[in-house]
Amino acid sequence: MKKLTYGLLLASVLVAGPALAGGDAAAGKSKSAVCAACHGPDGMSKVDANPNLAGQKAGYMVAQLKAFRDGKRVNPLMTAPTKNLTDEDIDNLAAYFSSLGK
Ligand code: HEC
Repeated sequence: MKKLTYGLLLASVLVAGPALAGGDAAAGKSKSAVCAACHGPDGMSKVDANPNLAGQKAGYMVAQLKAFRDGKRVNPLMTAPTKNLTDEDIDNLAAYFSSLGK
């Protein structure tokens, strides 16, 4: 229940707050090298099967990254890059990719 409450609180902060609520884009950038291999250094993927991340909503990316990490959304390519991310890493990565292309 605590987890759920926290999740709802976080979701409401991300939805209601400014676009980059919670995340530190600079910290996210420093963790993004591994992501760039598949999603492109500027968050624009060169591979048809890989989604672009630049400008994507931070709240949406936070939810997807947690789902991949926690095994609720399964894609073999996204399992390894997310399995050791903390909630803070995820907030920061989402803030970073969300800030690109603006
Ligand atoms: C080995 C290639 C690879 C790496 C490395 C990788 N991704 Fe992905 N990522 C993918 C693929 C492929 C998908 C599409 C998954 C699917 O179809 O469900 C995806 C999906 C996503 C999504 C969901 C996009 C959407 O529109 O739903 C996000 C967010 C994401 N990746 C972020 C990241 C971040 C952040 C990192 C670095 C920590 C990362 N990815 C590393 C290949 C990769």
